Amino acid sequence: MRNCHSKTITKAVFPIAGLGTRFLPVTKASPKEMLPIVDKPLIQYAVEEAYAAGIRQMIFVTGRTKRAIEDHFDAAHELESMLEYEQKQQLLDSVRNVTPDDMHCVYVRQASALGLGHAILCAEKIVGDDDFAVILADDLMMGETPVMQQMIDQYQQQQGSIVAVQDVPRSQTNLYGIVSGNESQGALLKINQIVEKPLPSDAPGTLAVVGRYILSASIFDELKKQQPGIHGEIQLTDGIASLLKKEDVFSYRFNGRRYDCGSKIGYLQAVVDLASCHPEVGESFNHWLANKVESPCTEVFKQKQVN
Ligand code: UTP
Repeated sequence: MRNCHSKTITKAVFPIAGLGTRFLPVTKASPKEMLPIVDKPLIQYAVEEAYAAGIRQMIFVTGRTKRAIEDHFDAAHELESMLEYEQKQQLLDSVRNVTPDDMHCVYVRQASALGLGHAILCAEKIVGDDDFAVILADDLMMGETPVMQQMIDQYQQQQGSIVAVQDVPRSQTNLYGIVSGNESQGALLKINQIVEKPLPSDAPGTLAVVGRYILSASIFDELKKQQPGIHGEIQLTDGIASLLKKEDVFSYRFNGRRYDCGSKIGYLQAVVDLASCHPEVGESFNHWLANKVESPCTEVFKQKQVN
């Protein structure tokens, strides 16, 4: 069994091979993770969060329709030359800052969307024996201290796997992995049970797993043992359930706000909140929004949205 906890986390896995069906038709040929929050795509927020936490190797588990993500993190020589020639320094910086020189991107394909657990298993050879971070870009997290940094701070004290959690209404437990445990230390809880999407009546609690993890490399062996479910999917939750029988796994209530950008309503909330604070358009957007609230939906737009 592999169990060599390293003191720092240097690798993050970004599973981005899901089909994004809740956003069809926009996700038919374009990645959900490239949906913009004003002028920056979701995946860039996720990578910036990892980078701010000291992580330098970014491992993307990609699939069909995801090539735009590789282009986004690649150099864009023609565009950069043009911006340089036109002396548009701010725009040039915004393009160059996407990929700092000391950041290393690696891509691995998940040929079929066989579940989050399977996607993570696709990164095994690149991750190797190191403990690693997992970031789901469609959970946009805003914290005064970046959420992955908060988790690494916890990891350095506990040296065990850690999953980020938030309290949800009991009526929503069927949308999440739900954890329970009894040894808590502040925001940390030692987990003794994790269940995938339980009915509210069966849920062992209301602490829901959200899209940030630090995992021991032993998770790969546990994922390999999982039987695929009805759609051939391998669930990360089942791998974690198996892992916690052998090693400590903690949940961590992060400080900050989560936007579920895999859902339309969460995505729209993120756009509005971040547009309101945007240095370039925030003021005029807030002015427009204040008037808009008085007449929320125009009839002609209502008709256009029907199909
Ligand atoms: P989701 O279930 O939220 O994403 O998976 P989805 O499947 O893309 O979206 P919907 O539900 O059809 O609208 C959570 C994360 O796991 C990744 C997704 O890309 C997303 O970041 N994932 C999921 C994979 O990489 N591979 C999979 O087989 C499944």
